[in-house]
Amino acid sequence: MRKKIVAGNWKMNLSLDEAKNLNEEINVALGKNENKCDVYNFIPSIYLTSLIEKDQEVVIGAQNGYPDKNGAFTGEISMNQLAEIGANAVLIGHSERRQLFNESDDLLKRKVDSAIGEELKVFFCCGETLEQRESGNYKEIVIEQLSNSLFHLAINDFEKVVIAYEPIWAIGTGVTASPDQANEMHKGIREAIAHAYSQEIAENTSILYGGSCKPSNANELLTQTDIDGGLIGGASLNSRDFLAIISTYN
Ligand code: 13P
Repeated sequence: MRKKIVAGNWKMNLSLDEAKNLNEEINVALGKNENKCDVYNFIPSIYLTSLIEKDQEVVIGAQNGYPDKNGAFTGEISMNQLAEIGANAVLIGHSERRQLFNESDDLLKRKVDSAIGEELKVFFCCGETLEQRESGNYKEIVIEQLSNSLFHLAINDFEKVVIAYEPIWAIGTGVTASPDQANEMHKGIREAIAHAYSQEIAENTSILYGGSCKPSNANELLTQTDIDGGLIGGASLNSRDFLAIISTYN
């Protein structure tokens, strides 16, 4: 059975005090319930050492990492360094990294290999632009992102990966994919996994939806047959909204 997962992506937001408070509020609230989903927070790397604690409810991850172990890469943080300070997971291929920092499929493939080698849980993001959606071949484009950077993994490594489908036109825009649009893509991704690996692996892979997901639309999106959770941006920045989304699975 695949896992239900709700993950926050804080992006480049929050002061250290705000970050500590938010993390604390979420941990306390989750500690009171038997949760039916796993909860992750992808936080600014500079806060990792302050927020990673043993035995907390929320799993803490980084939003990015560099594939080389060390070397002359000014300003970068390696997957190896993230693992060493206790990060458990990493986002790879977020559309903001692809678009604003020109990250190529090839670089993302190296990041995937490096993160897996460091035993970080990979959350691999994919998604199409509005132009690509309107061109009609959006499914092929998203599946190509997966084929180019992820499907080279051996089965036992691929089993550790979570996929996040985030249509770029829905990120931070207030426009969300309809439940049907999102579920159609998730089904397509699952078929591609079945083709690359097996039906069983496909059934066991968690595929999250991201893009303007908030308490008012979480229920209809996150309960679709092929949607196994959400990757939440803006609404993960306050505990009330984030916990409301998590409660979809209670
Ligand atoms: P929003 O929820 O703010 O649209 O962001 C989604 C996202 O990019 C999560 O990674």
